[in-house]
Amino acid sequence: MYLKALVFFLLTWIATAAYHPPKKQAKSAKGFGSSVVFPVSGNVYPKGYYYVTISIGQPPKPYFLDIDTGSDLTWLQCDAPCKKCTPSPHSLYKPNKNLITCLDPLCASLHGPGDHNCPAPQEQCDYQIDYADHGSSLGVLVKDSFPLKFTNGSTVAPQLAFGCGYNQEVLDTAHLPYTDGVLGLGSGKSSILTQLSSMGLTRNVVGHCLSGQGGGFLFFGDDFLPNSGIVWKPILSQLKYYSLGPADLQFGGRATNIKGLPIVFDSGSTFTYFTSQAYEALVSLIKGDLNRKLKDAVEDKSLPVCWKGTKPFKSIRDAVSYFKPLVLSFTNAKNVQFHLQPESYLIVTEHGNVCLGILNGGEVGLGNFNVIGDISLQDKLVIYDNERQQVGWAPANCNRLPNMNRDYGEGFRLPYAADDGLLKEICPANFGFWSNR
Ligand SMILES: *[C@@H]1O[C@H](CO)[C@@H](O)[C@H](O)[C@H]1NC(C)=O
Repeated sequence: MYLKALVFFLLTWIATAAYHPPKKQAKSAKGFGSSVVFPVSGNVYPKGYYYVTISIGQPPKPYFLDIDTGSDLTWLQCDAPCKKCTPSPHSLYKPNKNLITCLDPLCASLHGPGDHNCPAPQEQCDYQIDYADHGSSLGVLVKDSFPLKFTNGSTVAPQLAFGCGYNQEVLDTAHLPYTDGVLGLGSGKSSILTQLSSMGLTRNVVGHCLSGQGGGFLFFGDDFLPNSGIVWKPILSQLKYYSLGPADLQFGGRATNIKGLPIVFDSGSTFTYFTSQAYEALVSLIKGDLNRKLKDAVEDKSLPVCWKGTKPFKSIRDAVSYFKPLVLSFTNAKNVQFHLQPESYLIVTEHGNVCLGILNGGEVGLGNFNVIGDISLQDKLVIYDNERQQVGWAPANCNRLPNMNRDYGEGFRLPYAADDGLLKEICPANFGFWSNR
């Protein structure tokens, strides 16, 4: 699945444009200790997705969830019983009797203004999520316990609402993510991050660090923000999800005529998508610059545009010297730039060719939006701060957790050893995946 994000996005952004919810003051903000870290597994190629292991239920059972900052609702493939489920790594989640009713504000938040009917208050809350890649999940909202180990050492098991999905449609079965469900990390009411923050358990901040070598880490809360080096861009509050407004594209350090691209950050999308016009212009810039130093590899169907060298490329490192860096320079913010080294927009396929990981969003119906997906988010710490309504990024080594003493001063001590030791302590069940990735 190449693009599973941006739920309802294109359908409802117009409807929500005029609606400005009042900003709530978070109850939490307790300083250090109120964060949760998860090791991440997966990669851009060949898997096409990154996921975390989260334990849910009583007794808790582990599930693999695809990380998606382009949607709100977390859901699991569910034995309700399942009408249509895709192959999953764990057995289907069995719901308890703890249903969310249609009267719950969480339920209303998942429906458009016109399509929320709640004939009787005790009725269950049905949901349907339609993803931009034309996949979907249909099910009911349930509640169950999520045991989470916080960085202060406490384990808390709040009851959180999520979807029990018993009917999943997928278009591209060849690129099916082998997961039990999706972890929705948008800023909407139904997001588990929003639920945790309204319970006062953590700040409404989520961050990820996706390694180009595969794996990485994900966190809730703000314990893992370095003091310096982060570039921040305000979120456009009138749009849903993490929309950062227009940016101009630079190629090899020079301005181009590709300007004013509306940008959305979306970890649920494997690749990056540009609008048709920007895409065509970029492809011709890259081709012109390559000047036939690499031949077209039309026989490689991994992605729409591929090239081959005189001998097969063994890794991305062999190929990057043929390509120039790109920069997205945000137009309404001074000195706010997002850098894309060739590693952030190219893959080397199993056939040894190098392919462009920026795709034509017009062909998949993304309209006027440019979606920055996993490929371009790799090897960066990316923070979605819903408290301050901004998204930040900084170059990072995602193969290890941030060095806490360096970033927070000598006085700050976690009750664990850093890095793998910390992960082992926080997520013992996940440690196998972390070290084997
Ligand atoms: C640790 O943090 C959690 C989440 O904010 C909180 O519920 C818990 O009381 C804290 N524990 C300690 C010992 O401070």
